[in-house]
Amino acid sequence: MSSVRVLNSSQVEQAVDVLQSGGLLGLPTETVYGLAAIATDEKAVRRIYDVKGRPLDHPVIVHIGSLAELDVWGTEISEQTRILAKKFWPGPLTLVVKRNPIAGDWLTGSQETVALRMPSHPIALQILQELKTGLAAPSANRFGSVSPTSAEHVVFDLNQYLDSAKDAVIDGGTCDVGVESTIVNCTLSHPTVLRPGAISQADIDKALNATSENEQTSEIKAPGLLASHYAPNAKVLLATSETEALSILERIDGKEFVGFIALEKVSTPNGCMRLAMPQNNSEYAQILYEALREGDRNGLKNVIAVLPHGDDIAIAIRDRLTKAAF
Ligand code: TXA
Ligand code: MG
Repeated sequence: MSSVRVLNSSQVEQAVDVLQSGGLLGLPTETVYGLAAIATDEKAVRRIYDVKGRPLDHPVIVHIGSLAELDVWGTEISEQTRILAKKFWPGPLTLVVKRNPIAGDWLTGSQETVALRMPSHPIALQILQELKTGLAAPSANRFGSVSPTSAEHVVFDLNQYLDSAKDAVIDGGTCDVGVESTIVNCTLSHPTVLRPGAISQADIDKALNATSENEQTSEIKAPGLLASHYAPNAKVLLATSETEALSILERIDGKEFVGFIALEKVSTPNGCMRLAMPQNNSEYAQILYEALREGDRNGLKNVIAVLPHGDDIAIAIRDRLTKAAF
């Protein structure tokens, strides 16, 4: 089997070419790598679903390279939505708005909304600005498994499903943020977080100078937000403290090594293989997926993760680890 082509960061022209010829591109963003196709190219977008093994009713995010494109893909954009786009784009924020007809059913799972994001990774932005159109790009992993934060992860996960004659991956280094973007439902009177990420509900409320009402209801479906997601092969066991981690470890039978992920200040229990020791919550997010993958590469059956505390990106880390453990 031949290998998918890996482009380096100076080969943006070749990457643009791959997309314009209807191919798929593994694309670095500041959050995680995406698997991109030109959003109006229905055939190419349908191939993304095949390559990922993703059910067709799970809508994808359309990535854009300018603020003006908010009004190309979306309609009835509220003033609050514009404030959020201006403040946080380019960056790890996805805005769900009412769709224009150009956002076809193959992007939205036939819902009346579309998810839009302007990524800040320089390679992603440069490609989008050259193309002058949107890119559909879900995370570049098989459906339900851990997202990729490096070009190597994308090749490892998808090489056997990609077409080496048409598709490519462009290497933009390791992702800065490390967990997927915050998704915000902007069809409500107050924009509300559907999937936590680096930007919190508190950041959004502050930008809008308002707090969320508790009683908002919506028809919106985010079918990707399943209870189980982001899961490695190893069983993930969650602890909220060092003491709890030790008692979980005692209950595991067998003599194999158990993986261990926690902030640096938490020491590694005997019998554990340390997979990550981040110094703070941002670093925890940055290295989390590589740590889970490292556990799988070592064939570990169990990984204990000590959840980080706090109301910053720790919220997103707890969300992903809880889903990985489900
Ligand atoms: O950081 C990210 O968001 C990465 C990078 C590549 O941009 N992308 C990403 O895409 O995480 P994906 O497809 O793995 O996750 C997108 C999530 C899914 O849970 C999907 O259900 C939700 O976005 N979504 C997409 N369109 C939506 C819509 N119209 N309404 C509600 N949720 C939507
Ligand atoms: Mg995903």
